[in-house]
Amino acid sequence: MVSQLNGRSVISIDDLSVSDIEAIFKTADDICTNPHDYFGKAAGKIAATLFYEPSTRTRLSFEAAMQRLGGGVISTWDVNASSVAKGESLADTIRVVGSYSDIVVLRHPWEGAAKLAAEYSPVPVINAGDGSHEHPTQTLCDLYTLREHHLTLRGLRVALCGDLLNGRTIHSLAFALARFGANVIFVPGDGKEIPDYVRRRLERDYHAHIRREQLGVLSALFGDAPSGEEPATVDAIYVTPSEPHQLAMSSIEGTTVEFRVGSGEALSIYVTRRQRERGGDSPEAARYPTLTARALKTSQFKDISILHPLPRVDELSPEVDKDPRSLYFRQAALGVPIRMALLWHILGLGDGGQSNRREAYCRNVQGLGYSQPGIDCSNKTCITNKEKEFVHPQFEVVRNGDYKLRCLYCDQETATACFGNTESRIYYPSELLDRVLPPISPGHLRFFQSPDAAEAAGYRRVADSWDRYHPEPGKGRKSWLDLVSGRSR
Ligand code: NCD
Repeated sequence: MVSQLNGRSVISIDDLSVSDIEAIFKTADDICTNPHDYFGKAAGKIAATLFYEPSTRTRLSFEAAMQRLGGGVISTWDVNASSVAKGESLADTIRVVGSYSDIVVLRHPWEGAAKLAAEYSPVPVINAGDGSHEHPTQTLCDLYTLREHHLTLRGLRVALCGDLLNGRTIHSLAFALARFGANVIFVPGDGKEIPDYVRRRLERDYHAHIRREQLGVLSALFGDAPSGEEPATVDAIYVTPSEPHQLAMSSIEGTTVEFRVGSGEALSIYVTRRQRERGGDSPEAARYPTLTARALKTSQFKDISILHPLPRVDELSPEVDKDPRSLYFRQAALGVPIRMALLWHILGLGDGGQSNRREAYCRNVQGLGYSQPGIDCSNKTCITNKEKEFVHPQFEVVRNGDYKLRCLYCDQETATACFGNTESRIYYPSELLDRVLPPISPGHLRFFQSPDAAEAAGYRRVADSWDRYHPEPGKGRKSWLDLVSGRSR
């Protein structure tokens, strides 16, 4: 049977369905049990590792995985020693590197770079981290480690700690955990809260319930409060997937990731370092969750597991390494069978003769897409702002109080100040969109980031009196987005 993953790129954790993840885990299980059955199977194939940022585990475990499968690896030791130093674009580099190899593993400092690469590459691309956005293959290692230890993800509580703002491993893992029915507790360092766009994606795409709670036992991660002061507490956020829809998206129907026993109150603590290279501007003295042997003495931590994507700096004390609850070196080691399994499926190595497929990359959009010119993504380090000649912004229209455009490259949201009707060439303030009667069709709608931009494009502002004749919509009225996308309220 041809693998569902044959020829596909993996850019976001959302590119992998529950059954894809189960297939990868099943193959990784088999690789661990029968490694010799896999040796040599990728003979004649080449993986290119193209890393524009430092890496130890991700690059070397991909390279080890490819070599264990019998394939070859080409790599730039230092991209600054390649034509990148001469100003070559990613779009050009990827077309060339893709023509030398059967698969490209890419790490890049700009959000959305992996999606652009997948659109230009002649071979599948695996995202090994794009800026502060996503790191889907680290998530596979994390889930596989949790599954091995706790047997189930459903009902497991996972405390994601540290730099939640910039930590790409955190973002991909939060989405996957919500999908698999785990409860996520966000434990940020000061100023390193989970970004709004991640929270909203959790709510919108995963129908997760987010509520604020006291830290409780997890306040042990912040050390002892000085005497006389309240013990350190910060708000924690729970994602509680309790909707029937949520269950349908999760792996309950599945097999291997299927969770053999209920995990009750099981807890895993996932620690991460400050991402200093991504504007880690908060002072070092700011409170930051740190795991020490002393914190681990808490009796409620008796049965926890401790994960870390590594590298660690000072948020995880080496004195914890020998503790049987520490799984992070195991987690790093499992990167090889997991990445062997991923390469096995994408390269179609089990599919005999079908191994040179490449599927065009297309990001799944559940809602209303928008790709008219005139709007720039608000994220300055989004690839759409860096390689403008090669990539045009693509968005999804979202409504969070007012209308915003979610970038399909980096997921961050851009505010829209006004919108225009391409037929009448009239523009309106954004908040009127729900009150334009009859609703303007998506094909005739143009968003603008400012009235000046609308006027520069030749649109006239709606008369001020418009407001008086079209009062607030009545209670039962749907929003414009619901009306045009045929959704109920
Ligand atoms: C992570 C990364 O690069 O995002 N490392 C990894 O891939 N194991 C985490 C980090 O660098 O902090």
